[in-house]
Amino acid sequence: MNSAGYERLQSQVIPGYGSLARLAVALLAVSPAARAGGAEVLVAGCGTGAELVEAVAQRPDWRLTAIDPSEEMLGESRQRLGDQASIDWRQTTAEALVDQPGIAGRFAGALSVLVLQSLPDDGSKLAFLTALARSLQPGAQLVLVDLMQTSLPSLEGQLEAAWGGFQQASGLASQPAQPSQGLHPIGLARLTSLVNAAGFGDPARVFQALGFEGFLLQRRA
Ligand SMILES: C[S@@+](CC[C@H](N)C(=O)[O-])C[C@H]1O[C@@H](n2cnc3c(N)ncnc32)[C@H](O)[C@@H]1O
Repeated sequence: MNSAGYERLQSQVIPGYGSLARLAVALLAVSPAARAGGAEVLVAGCGTGAELVEAVAQRPDWRLTAIDPSEEMLGESRQRLGDQASIDWRQTTAEALVDQPGIAGRFAGALSVLVLQSLPDDGSKLAFLTALARSLQPGAQLVLVDLMQTSLPSLEGQLEAAWGGFQQASGLASQPAQPSQGLHPIGLARLTSLVNAAGFGDPARVFQALGFEGFLLQRRA
């Protein structure tokens, strides 16, 4: 699937998808470390390039490292962005990247949009978050956007039904996605414990649309 098809599908499934990358970049662009000119920023799980398009538009001065383990996704992203001298492309995971020379403590900011949700909570989520924390400078921030378990159990059924309705109303041709469908959402208490163990302070929620939530995480100094 090309980037236009992928993003149309994401927009039909994820409320607010069209604004996620724009908002994530806008948040990081004014963070204490990444607001500096020429900051090094990691885009973890760049997929077909939504965050990169925004980063290049909003902060052409940033030096970007774009990673994704999927050859197909990375290829689609590279084709879309063209020859941007400001982007260092690497086909890898965050966990493997951090052990490469010169990566630990290098980045002034990082973006992870819709990646953690796909990793099981069997040590994989912690390994991913730990790698991101280790890749950042002390005090630098990560913008994390992910599908979360609801903190309102009494409304769970209504929220799931509303999500199905959103997808239908958006013209989704296939069966509506459910939170359990191949994804591993966790609740806020579990996220807090994982990010603390990884080396971040507590997550600060900065936006939410149904189960999709955006957080700012700061690497401990
Ligand atoms: C749902 S896509 C989101 C892509 C993009 N961020 C967006 O919002 O459109 C998740 C991406 O994360 C990548 N990914 C999965 N595990 C990863 C890991 N451990 N480190 C970095 N990227 C990962 C996948 O290959 C996939 O391209």
